[in-house]
Amino acid sequence: MDEFSEDIWSGLRSEPKYLQSKYFYDVKGDALFREIMDCPEYYLTRCEMEIFQTQSTTIAKTILSRLTEFDLIELGPGDATKSIYLLEAITTQNASFTYFPIDISENVIDQLNLNLPKRIPGIKVEGLKGDYLEMLGKMNGKSARNKVVLFLGSNIGNIPLDETADFLKALKSCLSPGDLLLTGFDLKKDPAVILAAYNDAAGITRQFNLNLLQRINDTLGSDFNLSHFEHQPEYDESTGACKSYLVSLKEQVVHIGSRGHIHFKAGERIFMEVSQKYSADQMDTFAREAGFSIVSHYFDTRSWFLDALWLAE
Ligand code: AVI
Repeated sequence: MDEFSEDIWSGLRSEPKYLQSKYFYDVKGDALFREIMDCPEYYLTRCEMEIFQTQSTTIAKTILSRLTEFDLIELGPGDATKSIYLLEAITTQNASFTYFPIDISENVIDQLNLNLPKRIPGIKVEGLKGDYLEMLGKMNGKSARNKVVLFLGSNIGNIPLDETADFLKALKSCLSPGDLLLTGFDLKKDPAVILAAYNDAAGITRQFNLNLLQRINDTLGSDFNLSHFEHQPEYDESTGACKSYLVSLKEQVVHIGSRGHIHFKAGERIFMEVSQKYSADQMDTFAREAGFSIVSHYFDTRSWFLDALWLAE
């Protein structure tokens, strides 16, 4: 059995039930996520876009004051609409770099390989499909140059808080002293603003979550009836965890192809995703504990979002 099938089956057989949000991103999921980023409630992308539109020259200068030749690696680039400002600023300042976007979505990588050279003539792009850390580790065998790693969009927020320290330590172990890491963090703010971002009025986030059930139906031959589940996000102000669930609207049994069946009680929930919100101080502490020093903080004008530049010690 393949990894997708194993992960889905073990998540649905767990108590409480869960699915892994990395599986949201099939072709339909990628398209829905692009729609989410355009939703008026989903402020994250616009905040980080503002940082890149207005501060890319400063960020590029800070990077180039430390490194002039490097591999620029982006973990989970999407369509690179934000990082493209930084790529342009670095290109303008005559640095020598190759851009390596790493994504689990083949579709994302294909699009970047095709489209980026049209936007930035002469840019060297080598898209890599796979798990972030696995591919980052493989980069060490491919190139001896220093790395500048971009991990934008608060993608780190989709890692549970109690696993974040280990993730950052694992990421650091793929880096050499002098390498740089620019990470985007969504900051704690008015809970109503945060919750609305994950419960948009047009129902795109709802479709985004339900699409994973559709993907399981299409891939594993299961019989989820999507109208028997509802999207249920919640935000805990004290922990900063914004969690999404799919709640079963009735008692039901779902057959997962040839693997067997799963019983749902009425009101039972499948945990789908965490989108963690942080304080800037909390992130500084995570950075130091993982072996980084803090180079700079770049905030949007409302200080809703932070891109932090860290140096691997
Ligand atoms: C990709 N990631 C940072 C998004 C987030 O905000 O957690 C995924 C998402 N889920 C629902 N809306 C957006």
